[in-house]
Amino acid sequence: MDDNRLKKMEEDAIREISSAKTGEELESVRIKYMGRKGLFTDFMRSMKEIPEDKRAATGAMANKLKSKLSSLFDSKSRALRPSQAVSSASIDVTMPGSRDIRLGHKHPITKTIDRINEIFIGLGFRVAEGPEIETEYYNFEALNIPLEHPSRDVFDTFYIKGSTLLRSQTSTVQIRVMEKEKPPLQVIAPGRVFRPDAVDASHSFMFHQVEGFMVDKNIRFTDLKGTLTLFARQMFGEKAEIRFRPHFFPFTEPSAEVDVSCIMCHGKGCRVCSYKGWLEILGAGMINPKVFEAVGYNPEIWTGYAFGMGVERIAMLKYGINDIRLFFENDLRFLTQF
Ligand code: PHE
Repeated sequence: MDDNRLKKMEEDAIREISSAKTGEELESVRIKYMGRKGLFTDFMRSMKEIPEDKRAATGAMANKLKSKLSSLFDSKSRALRPSQAVSSASIDVTMPGSRDIRLGHKHPITKTIDRINEIFIGLGFRVAEGPEIETEYYNFEALNIPLEHPSRDVFDTFYIKGSTLLRSQTSTVQIRVMEKEKPPLQVIAPGRVFRPDAVDASHSFMFHQVEGFMVDKNIRFTDLKGTLTLFARQMFGEKAEIRFRPHFFPFTEPSAEVDVSCIMCHGKGCRVCSYKGWLEILGAGMINPKVFEAVGYNPEIWTGYAFGMGVERIAMLKYGINDIRLFFENDLRFLTQF
């Protein structure tokens, strides 16, 4: 009988709790059952009238109901409370923690220089550097380019004061190294050079070169050819071919301009190579005896070759870049592609 009363109370309470729509409604349901004069409290007070043999069992049922109802009240009251997410809408804890911090990386020109160095180091060369602010002596005279020599115009130059200037070629480092050291030598010298050229898609007033030279006894043109072929294949792929076109440089004799077979069309002819099939990448030749004399080497004993390549040119070919200015504008949309 008492059990039925409990059952009925349970059913009623659950129904009323679940239909409560506001905190106030829920609170009045709670008071109705659990309050000091509430139905459940009443029931507990009436426990003493229950026959002694049944009292323990009924008491246990009542306790179970009490804890069931109180947890129902709790969860319903939580559900009716305005939600955390809405009340503090400005913080969405599921959002990623912070804006990404972008990791920097090497500039494509630096990467290209690193790769060139790596290839020549593999062939037995070592890396040397020289100053960017130079004198006429190192940039011209010692390289067999006297003042009145017309080729001086080719290496058009930024003068600073008197005979100091910004070097217009890395060939200066040939002189600086040979002045200090004796052959045999196998050296490359990467660095910046400067020429007062109008800036356009293929010209910049500052660009990079890698100079290379080897001096020993019996160095021949075939050594130059073999070395540059190995370089071209490592830089541009096994299929790369090179060709030499006769040219003139005051500090080499004979001299050549060197082309690599177009990396886009492999010699067939395309827009990149202006349908020639070849792309010029460097100047080279056998070191002129006059240069050896300038550094105190006996040209009867020593022979050597030298070459100088434009780094931007090589990077543009390797990565398919069509405007040299992109390297120096520091636009991250460009730089992050490398
Ligand atoms: N210094 C030459 C230039 O800037 C390139 C070169 C280097 C040519 C070494 C021959 C030998 O154009």
